[in-house]
Amino acid sequence: MSLIDTARQVRENAHAPYSKFKVGAALRGVSGTVYAGCNVENVAYPEGTCAEAGAIAAMVAGGDTEIAEIAVIADSPKPISPCGGCRQKIAEFAKGDVKVTLTTVDGVTLETTVADLLPGVFDADYMSRV
Ligand code: THU
Repeated sequence: MSLIDTARQVRENAHAPYSKFKVGAALRGVSGTVYAGCNVENVAYPEGTCAEAGAIAAMVAGGDTEIAEIAVIADSPKPISPCGGCRQKIAEFAKGDVKVTLTTVDGVTLETTVADLLPGVFDADYMSRV
C-alpha cells in the first residue's frame, strides 16, 4: 500500500467532531516501517492534535528516529497545507530534501520537500553556543 493510501485509510479514523475536517498522515521511517496518524480533536480545543503529530508520535514510539518520506491527505479544495507547528515537528525528524506529498481526497497532489515547507527552520545549530 502506498503512503497516500495509508494516509487515506487512517483519515477515516480521525476524531474531528468540532472542525469536521478529517486529516490523515502516513510516513515511512528510514527503517522502512510505515506509521500513520490522524487528527484527534478535544472539546478543550487547544488540546487537539494534528494528523502529522500522531504519525510522528507513532514513529518515535515504534523506535524509528528519522522520516524518509511523508504524505498528508484531507478533503480540501487544494492539497492540504501542514500547519506551522507540524512543519517544525516534521523538520525535527527529517532532512530538508525529504519528499512531502500533500493531497486531496480527489487526488489533487502537490509534491514538495521539508526544506520548502519551512525555510529558515530553527534547528539545533542555533543552540551550538549553549
Ligand atoms: N489539521 C491537521 O491534522 N493537519 C494539518 O496539516 C492541518 C490541520 C487538523 C487540526 C484540526 O483538527 C483540523 O485539522 C482543523 O484545523
